[in-house]
Amino acid sequence: MDRKYIIAGNWKMNKTPAEAKALLEEIVKANAGKTACEIVLCVPAIDIPAAIEATAGTNIKIGAQNVHFKDNGAYTAEISAAMLKECGVEYVIIGHSERRQYFGETDQTVNLRTAQALANGLKAIVCVGETLEERKDGITFDLISIQIKRAFKGISAEDMANVVIAYEPVWAIGTGETATNEQAEEVCCFIRGLIAELYSTDVANAMTIQYGGSMNAKNAAELLAMDNIDGGLIGGASLKAPDFTTIIDSVK
Ligand code: 13P
Repeated sequence: MDRKYIIAGNWKMNKTPAEAKALLEEIVKANAGKTACEIVLCVPAIDIPAAIEATAGTNIKIGAQNVHFKDNGAYTAEISAAMLKECGVEYVIIGHSERRQYFGETDQTVNLRTAQALANGLKAIVCVGETLEERKDGITFDLISIQIKRAFKGISAEDMANVVIAYEPVWAIGTGETATNEQAEEVCCFIRGLIAELYSTDVANAMTIQYGGSMNAKNAAELLAMDNIDGGLIGGASLKAPDFTTIIDSVK
């Protein structure tokens, strides 16, 4: 089964518009014409216009890091799907663990945001993952199962074609501690099985499932070689053009 590999950077709260432009120019130059995977950079909202300009006409796509679930209205500081779409954004990260941990994101708001993104023609990168405590308690699969079932409640099989699932164990994010290849594969395989159960094997087999959490230039090739890992959601290493490029080149 040929699935689309997607290497996506999540810059989090890093880079001003001018810095974003400079880094994207470096990334564009180093990766021109590559077709083994889709390359996406999810940048801070304020950087989006500069990012779209810097990547226009290239093989690099731009993503946002969140989207609100209403069309418009009195939601101070929020950004709508239509706003992102009009700027030229293609992807949006939803339910990142940092949003869940620090900003009150819940499985229910993840579901609403996902539905809204898809309804507006954005591709959703939906993040799931367990904390260290949950892993130690042996409830990783229960937790992932709940996160997935709730995130995609009411989302049609057709819409799932525009969904990417990112498995990001919280204990591996920004800690330098990567899940082992086997740990990452085990959960990504579980996620695919669950999607098959909830939708169909066709939907599951076509779905891009990424791993995220301290993926870097050194460990990417091994992780990406696993059967059920079809890409990466990369934080720290996406802020350095050479490292991010090495990860892109690790896709076989
Ligand atoms: P790091 O690659 O910095 O661990 O971050 C992973 C992540 O959270 C991507 O969304």
